[in-house]
Parts: sequence; structure tokens; C-alpha cells
Amino acid sequence: MTGPKIILDCDPGHDDAVAILLAARHCEILAITTVSGNAPLHMTTANALLMCQLAGLDVPVHSGADRPLLVPAAHAPRAHGHTGLDGPPRPEVHGTAASNDAVNCIIETVRAHDDVWLVPVGPLTNVALAIRQAPDIVERLAGISLMGGAVGPGNVTPTAEFNIWADPHAAQIVLACGAPLVRMAGLNLTHQLCVGPDVIAQLRDHGSTATTFVAGLFDFSLAGYRERAGLEAAPLHDPCAVLAVTHPDLFEFGARHVDVETSGELTRGMTVADERPGTEATPNCEVAYRIDAEAALELIVDAVRSYD
Ligand code: BDR
Ligand code: CA
Repeated sequence: MTGPKIILDCDPGHDDAVAILLAARHCEILAITTVSGNAPLHMTTANALLMCQLAGLDVPVHSGADRPLLVPAAHAPRAHGHTGLDGPPRPEVHGTAASNDAVNCIIETVRAHDDVWLVPVGPLTNVALAIRQAPDIVERLAGISLMGGAVGPGNVTPTAEFNIWADPHAAQIVLACGAPLVRMAGLNLTHQLCVGPDVIAQLRDHGSTATTFVAGLFDFSLAGYRERAGLEAAPLHDPCAVLAVTHPDLFEFGARHVDVETSGELTRGMTVADERPGTEATPNCEVAYRIDAEAALELIVDAVRSYD
């Protein structure tokens, strides 16, 4: 596959699973790296392997950090179930991880290829460890496009989004790393891209292994968002970080300085974006504010339907 070269760092996770399918259609995925997040590391790794198997992808999966840098590990069983991919019947996974050293994979892959995008859609532990261990990789990158944070309300706490809250110290390292470009798709953006019953029915009607599996994933997500938040359509977070690399024209970005609150009693994991008019803070991040949701959803559905 042609397209931007990426390393997809993920914690599948329903929306991570869709991000894998989308990325494989529009990017050259050099590696998938996994991290503890929505579920424990052994499950997120198995889930990444499962998605590769389901879609027939020949992409190495490297497992990485089994816990955050400093805070205790936390998972999201309410949103993703105990497997991380609860919902559809789960096929047996046959593949195995290429290594358990995602950090080294990130470092060596970035050193070996020009203009790689890092696309982290889980807690930022692996990426932060790679940057700390090999600061030389930062300037070699095309950029980092992450799903995390929010300019507005959080989801795990009133002010914090899960990926950033789960490893706030790692997130601050990544946001402050000085990469040529950092794009942030936070909840303020991802809640504009939602999947409702019509899209789920469309996928199920298509009837392929991939569309049926993804319809089952969406059913589970939607049921959860209905119960927890009264929503009639489920936000599709992680594919936004992929689209911000492959289809940036679908977005409106604003250059902002963003820091992560690592120690606040009420605000741990909050992404603090400086939106003051005339601020002298130097931007370190392109914050995504708007997405053409209709066009984005069409790309996602087309990608899932392409795995026949
Ligand atoms: C983020 O947290 C996870 O539950 C999702 O996979 C997404 O990456 C949304 O807050
Ligand atoms: Ca995720």
C-alpha cells in the first residue's frame, strides 16, 4: 500500500480496530505497536493481531509497555469490555507478536525511514519511552498525530480524556518533544464523527467478514454510549488521528500551545490549550477543531467494505 508511512501505536479497543482497517487502506503501515490501555497489554496485542488476521494484513505487531510511566495501570472495561473488543463473536487468533519491544521498534523504524508519522491512539507510554531513549528520532519524523485530550469536557473525569489521563507524564513528554508537527484529535473533535444505527445496518448488510465484525463492534459501542451518556450515535475517536495524516483537508486546525496537567488533584490528565487571544505562548500543537464528518464517515465505511 502507498500513502504516508506510519507507525500505529494502539490499544485495541473498538475504535482502534477501525483505525487499523482505515490506516491499512490509506497508509503504508510500517508497524503496529501495542500498549496497555483499554485492556491489559496481552489483550490489546492479541486484538491487534486479530484485526490483522481478519483483514489479511501483513504488518508486524510489536507489543510494548504493560504499564504507564508513573501512575498505576487503568483499563476501560465499561467502554470496551474485558477483552477490549467485546461484542462480536471472537475468532481464534493465530498470529504472534514480532517482538515485545515496541519502543525499540519505534526507534529503529524511524531511524531507518524518512518522514515517518507516529500515530498514537492509546496512552502515550511507548512513544514517550522511545523519545526519551532516542531523542534523535524526533527531528526525523514527519509528525505525530495523536488521539487524546480535549479542549472542553473529558470522558474519564470532568476534565480528562482517557488516553492522556491513563499516562499523563508520557503525554506531556510527547506534547513537549519538539516534533516538526504534532496534531491532536481530542474529544471536542472526535464527538463530531459519530456512528449511528444507519451506518451499522449498512455495514451488516454488506455481509463480509470485516463488515460483520465491525458492525458488531459498533453495536457494542453504541449500546454503551446510549447507556452511559444517552447518545444515539457513538463517537469514533481513533480513526480521526489517522485521517488527520491521510486527509488533513477534512479538518480545521488551530495552532495552540498545549500542556498536560500531570499532578492536579481534580485535573490530572487535562490537556490545557492556550486559547487566549494574543497569547505569546509558542504553539506546539495543531489542535483539530472541526472535521467534515460526512466525508470522513464515507472513507471509513469504504475502507471497511474493501476487505472482501
Ligand atoms: C480514547 O480512549 C479509548 O477508550 C479509545 O480507544 C480512544 O483511544 C477515547 O477517549
Ligand atoms: Ca484507543
